[in-house]
Amino acid sequence: MPVKKGAEIAPAKGKLGVLLVGLGAVSTTFIAGVEAIKAELAEPIGSLTQLGAIRLGKRTDNRVPAINDFVPLTDLDDLIFGAWDIFPDSAYDAAVHAGVLEKELLNKLRKPLQKIKPMKAVFDQTYVKRLSGTNIRNGKNKLELARQLIDEIAEFKRKHRCDRLVMIWAASTEIFMKPHAVHRDLKSFEQAMRDNHKAIAPSMIYAYAALKSGVPFANGAPNLTVDIAALMKLANQNGVPVCGKDFKTGQTLMKTILAPGLKSRMLGLNGWYSTNILGNRDGEVLDDPDSFKTKEESKLSVLEYILQPEVYPQLYKDFSHVVRINYYPPRGDNKEGWDNIDIFGWLGYKMQIKIDFLCRDSILAAPIVLDLALFLDLAQRTGMKGVQEWLSFYFKSPMTAPGLYPEHDIFIQLMKLKNTLRHLRGEDLITHLGLEYYD
Ligand SMILES: NC(=O)c1ccc[n+]([C@@H]2O[C@H](COP(=O)([O-])OP(=O)(O)OC[C@H]3O[C@@H](n4cnc5c(N)ncnc54)[C@H](O)[C@@H]3O)[C@@H](O)[C@H]2O)c1
Repeated sequence: MPVKKGAEIAPAKGKLGVLLVGLGAVSTTFIAGVEAIKAELAEPIGSLTQLGAIRLGKRTDNRVPAINDFVPLTDLDDLIFGAWDIFPDSAYDAAVHAGVLEKELLNKLRKPLQKIKPMKAVFDQTYVKRLSGTNIRNGKNKLELARQLIDEIAEFKRKHRCDRLVMIWAASTEIFMKPHAVHRDLKSFEQAMRDNHKAIAPSMIYAYAALKSGVPFANGAPNLTVDIAALMKLANQNGVPVCGKDFKTGQTLMKTILAPGLKSRMLGLNGWYSTNILGNRDGEVLDDPDSFKTKEESKLSVLEYILQPEVYPQLYKDFSHVVRINYYPPRGDNKEGWDNIDIFGWLGYKMQIKIDFLCRDSILAAPIVLDLALFLDLAQRTGMKGVQEWLSFYFKSPMTAPGLYPEHDIFIQLMKLKNTLRHLRGEDLITHLGLEYYD
């Protein structure tokens, strides 16, 4: 554990500014949702920080406080929102365009949403081919763009009288990139920014600006972004917590719920075929093969790690895993994800499972954004820095410390998250051994 058991946690006093990169479907559904909850028009369904409880001590103790009573989290009334986007639309117009929430609800929230106007984006179409916009900043090189963001972050904090900030990448998925030699340390990274090197994507410029400003950073998309040596060193050096990558929603959420169950009963897998149709802007961006490759890598790794073919070769060696995303405009944000799962049981007899998940991507993603903002802020007030593996619960492709493999099993992830909270508050970790009846 990076911090002492029962470490002191600074109180969540004052305002927390939530800076969102990208003011699209996910961000507007998150902001509008918080405003609707504050106005008592809706409930925070899907949010662990708002609805979750945590068992403490022995099973016979009956101590199950709400998570937000157990650890000091920022109150929803103290959240302030800011965003960058390549389109100048206010959060209200962007929410109407995204088409996730009903007009009737959005009209009740028109006032606070209209006030949120996106700041000018750092954008380069090389990295997101299907988009072009007008609300874009200029600078003589990538380092200068980062400096502009750093100034803007400081100005936002001052203007809105925020006590603390967090930044969350909820912008479009960038093209697939591998770590490059210029990512190895801060010096070469900064030189590459000066040289306008192509290995520095816009998302890295935002992450760099956040970390330089001491602002925790979460990456909701599968882009490489902060998951490179130079930025991880900067996060550790500046004492800033980070986490990523790619919000765990929809089909991958189902996969990480079902696969651990199949494995726990020693049922084998011949193949898992997943296909999706979606028609929102995210779907349009992912229709470009280079952006899809980033997403595909993120979605494919999940089963390998959960099923451990090297440990269970009779069950999981050489299973076939295929993931497809098809852009189909009529569906908008209401994605449909089909899974065909070929499994086998006793004596090798074959069976099939079919899932047809009519989900709403942004409805699943919005509470994740809220929880990440509140937990990252908690981590910073506790003095935690670098990769926050206890937040793997929220990601398709969790970041890890160098040399470790990611944990994908959602039940292990949840146990890790709750045990981290217990540790922070000086409570015993719960191992589910059940020995309390015998002591
Ligand atoms: N919706 C989900 O369930 C889900 C799940 C996992 C990951 N994600 C990821 O979250 C991101 C957001 O998803 P969405 O559905 O809101 O997409 P969206 O297309 O509705 O919104 C993304 C916004 O980002 C803006 N943008 C692009 N590049 C930018 C830049 N460099 N700076 C500032 N703004 C920029 C776009 O103009 C757009 O408004 C995507 O990368 C998506 O893959 C979404």
